Amino acid sequence: MTGASQLLTLRGSGARRGDSLSNLGLIKDGALLVRDGLIAGVGTRAEVEKLPEARGAEKIDLGGRVALPGFVDSHTHLVHAASRAEEYELKIAGASYEEIARKGGGILNSVKKLRAATSEALKKRALAALQQFAAHGTTTVEAKSGYGLDVASELKILRLHKELAAEQPLEIVSTFLGAHVVPEEYRKKANGTEQYIKLIEQNLLPEIGEKLAEFCDVFCDRGAFTVEQSKRVLQAGRQWGLEPRMHAEQLSRTGAARLALLMRAASCDHLDQLNKSDIAALGKSETVATLLPGCNFHLGLKQYAPARALIDAGAIVSLATDYNPGTSPTLSMPMILSLACAQLRMTPAEAIAAATINAAHALRREKSVGSLEVGKQADIAVFEVADYREIPYYFGVSHCWMTVKRGRVIHAAEQAAI
Ligand code: NIG
Ligand code: FE
Repeated sequence: MTGASQLLTLRGSGARRGDSLSNLGLIKDGALLVRDGLIAGVGTRAEVEKLPEARGAEKIDLGGRVALPGFVDSHTHLVHAASRAEEYELKIAGASYEEIARKGGGILNSVKKLRAATSEALKKRALAALQQFAAHGTTTVEAKSGYGLDVASELKILRLHKELAAEQPLEIVSTFLGAHVVPEEYRKKANGTEQYIKLIEQNLLPEIGEKLAEFCDVFCDRGAFTVEQSKRVLQAGRQWGLEPRMHAEQLSRTGAARLALLMRAASCDHLDQLNKSDIAALGKSETVATLLPGCNFHLGLKQYAPARALIDAGAIVSLATDYNPGTSPTLSMPMILSLACAQLRMTPAEAIAAATINAAHALRREKSVGSLEVGKQADIAVFEVADYREIPYYFGVSHCWMTVKRGRVIHAAEQAAI
């Protein structure tokens, strides 16, 4: 691939903190040599054309567009049965997310719909979404269970993750989120939460192990699981080989982020309610701080996560869509970049690094994706712009011109059809 006006390599070692978050490793008039799905050369056009292996290689001319690593979306609830557009109207009329949840809407609404849906129907919807992820420049997608909440339905989702990973080009990283909320049938029982956690420990995790998921997530918040309960679930997950990650400090400050650090979780996500000492602790930690501004936008909230303070404290800040039917029905990483700039006050460069290399760290995939360096997967997004700042600058439209996964073109805008 040659003729990128700007090639954003994101090269360099380690996750990006503080000032290094703005370092995109930009090469003007950049080119990439791809062989067997991996990057075999990267540099200026002149440098790459000089490589002996470049002779005879098929050429794609990027015509002065901007190329960067495919986005890594490290937080999605990919598999769900339907939208919750009816709740959207209630929210606009003034009902809060928690009020809707208390009335049996929210996550439990999606659980009802998922339990009733066939695997085929869920698969069809997820496949259509994955094509759209690719069309917006995303090449790796984390996917959480959590709308099943009984053995059969959680396994139905996790098996689907596996099928999707095998049958379409995007990389799927599977996360078990059995502790999303306590399901309806356990709420009526005395000790229901305890019994549901036992179901996770004794019936779900042994079936899942490392075969069906890599990570175990918990929604630790008011109305979901307490810090103590979350710790128990994450510890149990770890015994079955699942690394912890968490939904933390979204609706209220519970101490969830502190638990994530204590457990050396791969990431803690949302973080709207952090206090000063949480921010300082995250600044010193290896746990990635993943921000999900799509939720705040969709819920019409005025308050966003303290991104600037986290960056200044040295935290490893990442961005994700949180694609889900309740709080963030978007699969567009470019839209998330626009929100990160306008609302989180991140610069375009910081937002791009957060959505690529730092997101790769959040999924423990930093050795294979998240930057364009020799030996890594050829996962590339090309945008129909001449300056990378235009990626977040334009919003509400997709300027993604081409997406490449492991060296294969998986999305091409009409005029890019090759
Ligand atoms: O990331 N907060 C918990 N889970 C999701 C929302 C899920 C839903 O409302 O369906 C989130 O925001
Ligand atoms: Fe989520």
